[in-house]
Amino acid sequence: MLSKELILKQMNTAYCGKNLIYLDETDSTNEYAKKIAATSESGTLVVADCQKKGKGRLGRNWNSPAGTCIYMSLILKERIEPHKSPMVTLIAAMAVFDAVREKLSDVKIKWPNDIVVGGKKITGILTEMKSDSQETEYIVPGIGINVNNEEFAPEIAANATSMKIEAGRDFDRSILIANVMKYFEKYYDEFLKTGDLSFIKEIYNDNLVNRNNEVEIISGEDSYRAAALGIDDSGALIVRKKDTGEIHTVVSGEVSVRGVYGYV
Ligand code: BTN
Repeated sequence: MLSKELILKQMNTAYCGKNLIYLDETDSTNEYAKKIAATSESGTLVVADCQKKGKGRLGRNWNSPAGTCIYMSLILKERIEPHKSPMVTLIAAMAVFDAVREKLSDVKIKWPNDIVVGGKKITGILTEMKSDSQETEYIVPGIGINVNNEEFAPEIAANATSMKIEAGRDFDRSILIANVMKYFEKYYDEFLKTGDLSFIKEIYNDNLVNRNNEVEIISGEDSYRAAALGIDDSGALIVRKKDTGEIHTVVSGEVSVRGVYGYV
């Protein structure tokens, strides 16, 4: 069971998730959050039990059945230079990483924003924003966590898992939502002070699933192989190109990073 009351009972933050909108069903919590962003306070969290048109990265769908998973989008209205908005995605990834690893072992991060357990994806994050050339009007990180579901669409089944599949038991979604908000707020406040990700770089890199492994960097029609070395202070992935040995920094956005032999 998920409800506004149950979630708020667990919430222990100053502002992230304090103003909570709970929906039994919506098209996409990101779409909902973007529609109300102009009139909402920063830290407003939209949670739905079910999404009819859940959105993934790179124009993909995010399958969003009722009763088992977490779908939530946070409205952030602090004015940030637009080029720094991808950093908020990595902060969200760190927050989910911390909340999930309290419950499971072998939890890793796949740059920029997937959380991986036993080599399979358990979380996806899609960040959307509105800005002018100077600063953001809002940033909406949308987080999907596979919690108590046990089945996946055939096209993602090989690379997806859930907390229940990994642990063999159900988890309380309200506690997880509140914990993600707690960690998010801690990291986001630090980011607002420092303006970069230097304060999480070490722990992020220590838990990077494909650190020092060969990966394939895919951008539209182009792709190349490289060793993933870790993130820099801005959250960009530093790689060493396999063919030339050149060092490149890859910024997130419309780029995929894949393992040479599969998802990681
Ligand atoms: C990915 O492709 O990995 C990103 C998936 C993001 C899914 C979440 S679920 C909550 C929020 N609402 C959406 O429509 N998408 C994000």
